[in-house]
Amino acid sequence: MENNSNQRAVFTTRLGAVAAAVGSAVGLGNIWRFPYEAGSHGGGAFMLCYITFILIIGIPVICAEFIMGRQTRSNEFRSFRALAPGKPGWSWVAFTGIICAVLILGFYSVVAGWTVEYIWLAISGELLNSSNDLNATFTEAIAGGWRPVFWTILFLVLNYVVLSRGVQKGIEKLNNVLMPLMFVLLIILCVNSLFMPGASEGIKFLFLPDFSKLTPDVILSALGQSFFSLSIGVGTMLTYASYFSDRTPLARTAFTTAILDTLVAILAGVMIFPAVFSFGMQPAQGPALVYEVLPQVFRSITGGVIWASIFFFLLFLASISSTISMSEIQIAFLIEELHMTRRKANLTVLIVAITLGTICALSFGPLKDATVCGKTIFDLFDYISSNIFMPLCGMLLSFFVGWKLDRAVIRRQLTNNGTLTSRALPFIVLCLKWIAPPAILLVMLNSIGIL
Ligand code: PHE
Repeated sequence: MENNSNQRAVFTTRLGAVAAAVGSAVGLGNIWRFPYEAGSHGGGAFMLCYITFILIIGIPVICAEFIMGRQTRSNEFRSFRALAPGKPGWSWVAFTGIICAVLILGFYSVVAGWTVEYIWLAISGELLNSSNDLNATFTEAIAGGWRPVFWTILFLVLNYVVLSRGVQKGIEKLNNVLMPLMFVLLIILCVNSLFMPGASEGIKFLFLPDFSKLTPDVILSALGQSFFSLSIGVGTMLTYASYFSDRTPLARTAFTTAILDTLVAILAGVMIFPAVFSFGMQPAQGPALVYEVLPQVFRSITGGVIWASIFFFLLFLASISSTISMSEIQIAFLIEELHMTRRKANLTVLIVAITLGTICALSFGPLKDATVCGKTIFDLFDYISSNIFMPLCGMLLSFFVGWKLDRAVIRRQLTNNGTLTSRALPFIVLCLKWIAPPAILLVMLNSIGIL
């Protein structure tokens, strides 16, 4: 990445642009959240909705963010101000996106903290020690009072350190080395799972839809998961696109990002579910799923300690490239809208995240009875951001680009000023106008029982 004439950093290579977008998208959402959401929402039925939403809503919404970001080369607020002058109401979409990023960073850093602790437990050999009760280990890690708080804060401080070194070195370098490695390791673990006794049960659970399980809640959760996993509706993709070079092909980058992200989620599913059924465990055990199943898997393979250590380390790196992106939009907001220095903005984000992260970390232990509508604070942050705010912002964003934005801007961005032929253009416009906004609205109304 280098600075161009108007002083905004630009990703110099196509790989840099794709790696940054994929780095934001691929994270705990794929490896931790996807299996647990699919497991709790009927497997195949969830998967079917999830893939459909990625294709007809997710990819067009990423394109919408890319178009706005690169056209205006600025954060989401300025982007709306530039593209809808005199209509300050649109800034609310950007503002909701920032709130969403704050909430997500709050609960996400807790799970990332578990990951850091698991690296430690794996390396020390304690995790895979056969006398160790994995269920008890996990319960202690998440509910042990100040213990999860410590790991959450440690993670957030690491995130802060990477961020304070600047956008360039931090993001680009990390992503370029981490993604291919993660992929290879996942494939090895998938092959291992497929050879477990009873593996076919898990594969059937994940890929064979049982239509009787298709409830409004399952559909909404799949929509939320597709938004969460692709990092859309928050403004992260928009902000990253403001750093893309003029030659980055937007539609292709959106498509590559979505496909790679979905592939990682499916690989995570194939790694987890055969093992769940093979070990006679429950697919619907919620956030604990991956953290209880994976150590079992590592126990069953030779060199498990090494594999487990590498795996949790890579998961940590994947998480940090996602938290970097959600912190970056908060920092950009504080610098560009509230005129803070970068240092101060970074520190503010850290302090807010530590406060919310601590509350979320305690919501598995001392604060587990502090519930709203039956949800702990952790679950509430997750539910509100993924199932409500992100789809809502995504709906408004696609409505804006589909109906309000000058078609010439869309064409210019998707064809790189006429130098590319974008065959996807009519499909993207169709989805942004006629498919994504009504579909999101329908799913949301349906889930609150209005339809
Ligand atoms: N997509 C990220 C993941 O799957 C999470 C994320 C959400 C990142 C929103 C940025 C913004 O882990």
